[in-house]
Formats: sequence, C-alpha cells, structure tokens
Amino acid sequence: MAEYKLEMKNISKSFPGVKALDQVQLSVRPGTVHALMGENGAGKSTLMKCLFGIYKMDQGEIYLDGNKVEINNPDDAMLHGVAMVHQELQPVLARSVSENMYLGRFPVKKLGPIQMIDHKKMNQDTEKWLSELGLSYNVKAPLSSLSIGQMQMVEIAKAVSHDAKVIIFDEPTSSLSDKEVEFLFKVMGDLKKKGVAMIYISHKMDEIKRISDDITIMRDGTYVGTWPAEEMTTEQIIAKMVGRELSNIYPEHHHSIGETIMEVEDLTSIHEKSFRGVSFSIKKGEILGFGGLVGAQRTELMEGIFGIRHLAKGTIKVHGKEVNIKRPRDAMDAGIGMIT
Ligand SMILES: Nc1ncnc2c1ncn2[C@@H]1O[C@H](COP(=O)(O)OP(=O)(O)OP(=O)(O)O)[C@@H](O)[C@H]1O
Ligand SMILES: [Mg+2]
Repeated sequence: MAEYKLEMKNISKSFPGVKALDQVQLSVRPGTVHALMGENGAGKSTLMKCLFGIYKMDQGEIYLDGNKVEINNPDDAMLHGVAMVHQELQPVLARSVSENMYLGRFPVKKLGPIQMIDHKKMNQDTEKWLSELGLSYNVKAPLSSLSIGQMQMVEIAKAVSHDAKVIIFDEPTSSLSDKEVEFLFKVMGDLKKKGVAMIYISHKMDEIKRISDDITIMRDGTYVGTWPAEEMTTEQIIAKMVGRELSNIYPEHHHSIGETIMEVEDLTSIHEKSFRGVSFSIKKGEILGFGGLVGAQRTELMEGIFGIRHLAKGTIKVHGKEVNIKRPRDAMDAGIGMIT
C-alpha cells in the first residue's frame, strides 16, 4: 500500500491578477484527518477545487494510492473516489432531501423498454445513509424545510454515500449545531477506521486539535509545511499561518470608551418569527458582539437596523436623536455602515 492515499505535487493556479497557488503540495495518509490551515485567502479552497476538478490547475500532479490521475471535472473526481463537502452549499431547495442526495446519479429502474427514476430505492437508500449519521429527516420533504445546519448534514451524508476514498470537508461546521458537530466527528472517526483519507478545513482551533492527525499550513498561496497535529500548539499554528510571532499579531491597543452613540429600543420585525423587542446601546469606541445559534435572527436584526428589512415597531437613536430608517441610504446618511 502506498504511504499516502493522496499526493498533490507542485500545484500552481492563477486567476487574473492573483497567483492563488504557487507550487503547493499536500500528502494525506490513509485513515487520517488532515487539517488544511491558513488565513482567509491563503488558497485552501482553491487547492481543494483543483483536486475536485472544479478548477483546472495551471501546473502540478495528483496521485491517488501512488498512481498519477487526471481530474478534469467533478465527475472524474467522484469516479476516482474523491468527494467534497463545499464551503458554499449548492443544494436544490425545491427538490426533496433524497433527490438532493442523488442529484446527478438518480437510480433507474426498467419497465420494459422504459427507464424510470427509482424513487423508492432513492428514498430508502437516503434514509439508510442519513441513519448512519444518526439523522432521521423526512427524505421526501423539500430540502427547504430543513435548517442550514441540517442541509449541511445532508451534504455530508452525500459525500459519505459516494463510498469515497478521499473526502474534502471545506469548513463544514460553520453552520452546524453542537449536536450536529458531534455526529460529524463520530462519522469521521468511523471513516478513519475504514481507511478513508479526509482533508479538513476549519478556522476553529479546538476542532483542529480534536480531530486532526496532521496539519498542513498555507500562506499567501504557498506551502509552509506539514506537521503531526499533536506536536503543534495553537500559538505555533497561528504564527506559521500569519508568518510572524503571536506577540505581534494582537498588539495591545489602549483606548477609552466614550459617550453613548447609538440606542436601539424595542426593535421588532414585521415578520412574526423574526426579531422582537430588541434593545441595546453602544458607546463610542465599543465593540458589541451578538451571539446566538444559526437562525437566531442576528443578521435579520442588523439588516433591520440598516433599512434592508421592514420594522413593525421600535426606535433607533444616533447621538440621542431618533432617526427614521426606511432604506439603506437613510442608515448611511445617519452615519451607519454595514459590512455583510
Ligand atoms: N474564482 C476566482 N477568481 C478569482 N480569484 C479567486 C477565485 N477564487 C479564489 N480567488 C482568489 O484566490 C485566493 C485564494 O482564495 P481561496 O478561496 O482559495 O482562499 P481560502 O484559503 O479558501 O480562504 P477562506 O479561509 O476565506 O475560505 C484569494 O486571493 C482569492 O481572492
Ligand atoms: Mg475557503
């Protein structure tokens, strides 16, 4: 057996004006989770899209089980046993859960000369794959009836159902609940035992520490190095990602908190299920964090303040003066900016 399930060598890829990958390498052992780390824009997703055949690399070679392979599109990738759970979900919301599972590979049954989609088999198989992940969604319901986290789990079940030898997880947990993350890690543990090689992209340090065996770090489209996960401290990982010592990363800033700059009172959406009765105030020089689970309506609240969503009631004061925000332009005129 080859030492590495997957080897990517000298991979380069440019986009107009950006060299996204410059001679990058990645070697993943069978039955391991390999964390791929780097700052935003380091080239992680681009490298994975080259592996999955979404992008055509300018230069480089890919080996599976020691054999060189050509991957020109996602179908090639799946034929070679490579599956990918995408950072950006691409589900078809109006279709059922099972149709999304089998998108592009519907099972068919023959009725004499006629070929028909075998919905029964598709539903049964989908139930089986989901139950292996400890999930019991209604497979006939439209995908849109699931939460974002649940859709992500379907996406993961789909990758697993391909019987893949290499599975790429590009930030899979960003919209999962704690319980769903536990399911995912359990599934990944089972896949390890089956010898599957997994590439795991995440910015969450505690997850990396928990499940990865090896870590490869990238910076500005280049390969920094690969280490056993247990030999690296969080500080060392971050220093390698940013290319400086940690003490320089968050230099201490001194500033004082000033007077109240904005007051929000009893802000309530016109939609019954969205935000209701939200009040808070912010002082000059303050950063106020909004926590909550996926679907907690944080984004909707901010969009309500910025005039993107309609309000049923509530007031917004800036510098003590009530402002009437009906559209984003009103918010901007009141000195409010929004970065989505
Ligand atoms: N389709 C594209 N067209 C042009 N430039 C792109 C494209 N995709 C990525 N890039 C650029 O390539 C570089 C690497 O991006 P990439 O998405 O691979 O980073 P990443 O490591 O996955 O970041 P993140 O952690 O934010 O997901 C960035 O400079 C990005 O702007
Ligand atoms: Mg990415």
